Amino acid sequence: MKAVIPAAGFGTRFLPATKAQPKEMLPVFDKPTIQYVIEEAVASGIDDILIVTCRNKRSIEDHFDKSFELEQTLQSAGKDDRLKQVRDITDLADICYVRQKEQRGLGDAIYCAKKHVGNEPFAVLLGDSITKGPTPCTKQLVDVYNKYGASAISLESVPREKVERYGIIKGSEVESDIYKIDKLVEKPLAHQAPSNLAIMGRYVLSPDIFDKIDETEPGVGGEIQLTDALQKLDAIYGVTFEGKTYDIGNRLEWLKTSIEFAMDDAESKKQLIEYMKEIIEGEE
Ligand code: G1P
Repeated sequence: MKAVIPAAGFGTRFLPATKAQPKEMLPVFDKPTIQYVIEEAVASGIDDILIVTCRNKRSIEDHFDKSFELEQTLQSAGKDDRLKQVRDITDLADICYVRQKEQRGLGDAIYCAKKHVGNEPFAVLLGDSITKGPTPCTKQLVDVYNKYGASAISLESVPREKVERYGIIKGSEVESDIYKIDKLVEKPLAHQAPSNLAIMGRYVLSPDIFDKIDETEPGVGGEIQLTDALQKLDAIYGVTFEGKTYDIGNRLEWLKTSIEFAMDDAESKKQLIEYMKEIIEGEE
């Protein structure tokens, strides 16, 4: 299976940090966001990856490219651990790029992958969100796709006041944590939302989605919405996956995620707790 990572948004929610830097390259603790995303794809058994980019996103390509000068410098300095880290990034996956020339929405960005994907099911991982769980989120969706023979997307319950930020679904639970979806609405107003189950940025899709996108008129925000194309599929399942999704495009969520990931690092954890105690005591 191939994976498509759309990374062609402006990142307006996180300006000025994203003025000259892609939001997908914002570091979470010690790695750029998009590296976690690719690591999730690889951990799910997918190493053929297409990233959909646009102007100003060149640093994404540089990050996954070989850096001869850097490798040579690290080698002559005997910094073997760092050298391995740098080489591992290049060897992580087989990555191709395509540019979305006009920002016409997420559906249109996915459509740019049509040629690369061909007539096979494929995964979509949004480049500005990270997931964490006992089994990689994309792997959980691949399993549901294989079991039901239909597209599968990740879901999470969100508070009512936040439904306007997401695609929201209506469905019936067919087994624990798996929903057969009847309806999908992109960014509904709170009182119009069919539930509080939100689409969380991971999808495993059948290739007929490309025809459905082609038939989709611009929706919310005048953009071709992937959610509107998903509504046209014959069958689609939602999975409230075991784990958590972190939205990096929002500055407070990004900061919280960085802290949470630093706490997973034994060396940083102790010092971070002491530092946070100091800050909190200073506030009291
Ligand atoms: C996109 C999707 C939306 C989904 C969200 C998850 O919206 O269109 O359905 O709920 O990602 O992050 P965006 O955040 O790009 O506006």
